[in-house]
Amino acid sequence: MTIQQAAALLRTPRVEWTQPQVWCDLGCGEGLFTRTLATLLAPGSTIYAVDRNQPALGRIPDERHGVTIRKILGDLNDDSLQLPSADVWCGKIKCAGAADVR
Ligand SMILES: C[S@@+](CC[C@H](N)C(=O)[O-])C[C@H]1O[C@@H](n2cnc3c(N)ncnc32)[C@H](O)[C@@H]1O
Repeated sequence: MTIQQAAALLRTPRVEWTQPQVWCDLGCGEGLFTRTLATLLAPGSTIYAVDRNQPALGRIPDERHGVTIRKILGDLNDDSLQLPSADVWCGKIKCAGAADVR
């Protein structure tokens, strides 16, 4: 999937163009949606990228387009996993289908 295709899947009124937001990308993998979001959000925004795969997280930059990316290693099924508060949550954990945005 290309960044353009990912951006089309992320088209949502939840994206705020004019002021910083905090997003959380659950099951971010190597960060396709995280990187795409960074091109859509206002500079100064933060994206928390969560995955249980450390090598995949390691391929995600710490910053892109003025957006801070914070990586969290953990299993979403683990009740002890501490997740940050966020304005918007998204995720595409299954191979098929679009990103879910809440
Ligand atoms: C199909 S990949 C999608 C990756 C990315 N969201 C994308 O669209 O390119 C699913 C990702 O979810 C992660 N994942 C699946 N179950 C998870 C869990 N219980 N906790 C954390 N990450 C999980 C996998 O490690 C994998 O990186």
